[in-house]
Amino acid sequence: MAEVKTVGVIGGGQMGSGIAQLAIVAGIDVWLLDSDSNALTNATKSIGNSIQRFVSKGQLSQEKAKDALRRLRCTSSLEDLQSADVIIEAIVESEDIKKSLYTDLDRIAKGSAILASNTSSISITRLASATSRSSQVIGMHFFNPPPIMKLLEIVRGGDTSDATFMTVKALAERFGKTVICSQDYPGFIVNRILMPMINEAFFTLYTGVATKEDIDTGMKLGTNHPMGPLELADFIGLDVCLSVMRVLHVGLGDSKYRPCPLLVQYVDAGRLGRKRGIGVYTYGKLPEAKSP
Ligand code: NAI
Repeated sequence: MAEVKTVGVIGGGQMGSGIAQLAIVAGIDVWLLDSDSNALTNATKSIGNSIQRFVSKGQLSQEKAKDALRRLRCTSSLEDLQSADVIIEAIVESEDIKKSLYTDLDRIAKGSAILASNTSSISITRLASATSRSSQVIGMHFFNPPPIMKLLEIVRGGDTSDATFMTVKALAERFGKTVICSQDYPGFIVNRILMPMINEAFFTLYTGVATKEDIDTGMKLGTNHPMGPLELADFIGLDVCLSVMRVLHVGLGDSKYRPCPLLVQYVDAGRLGRKRGIGVYTYGKLPEAKSP
């Protein structure tokens, strides 16, 4: 199995910055690329702050933190990713934009490099079709925030080889993650189960069965979930929940996945959840993000 020494991360937003942090803390050199230089500045700052919080909590030594920060390099040029053994893509969730990036990466990345996507809903097989190395394309679906959430869902595209899977699994383990493996079908494992539950919570509210508070309390205390489904939808973003429901509906062709009209209406109204200060609930001054 190939040893991973350098990782490229593309997209320095919420997810990409967290993924870059995991890699540098694991002792891997990272090139973090974003087309927006402000995103790189913000990512560098948030990675530094987050690592410092791990140090304050005694979860990371000062020495390891310094070593990690030395391993991070930022760039806006794809050519810098030529040295990467694995490139993890975490750009905007658009199939066309991702495919065009994969075509460029296929040209630029070294022949042995693995291309991994953090997509939450786009088919890995279709992304792989934009390259000439479909056996080296795979899904690495992290959860938010990546430095905290223990799970990594690995998604095998139609052509993903066993060697690619084993290399990525070993990398995930170096990141300290527990790995689950999904075949490439809409929603993979977690969203296939989670999003219909959230959608059903919207139907329960929409049809007047109960108040939002009672729905959330019911699921928290009745099923031991740390957050109620509506509260969780606000945390994830209602636009993200709606787009995953649409992927399930179209991809699986079953009316049981139709998005709840109330969810559609909230998104149309710009009630996207915590990030907008309003979703199912209204938020005052937002508390600091919880990641250490
Ligand atoms: P984000 O909007 O915070 O960050 C995306 C970054 O990609 C931005 O900084 C943007 O400037 C950059 N970007 C866009 N197009 C680019 C291009 N062509 N080349 C280079 N950089 C480009 O998005 P977020 O939330 O980090 O999501 C990224 C990916 O991760 C998406 O595919 C999303 O579905 C997936 N994901 C998101 C989760 C979440 O909870 N936010 C959870 C799991 C997966």
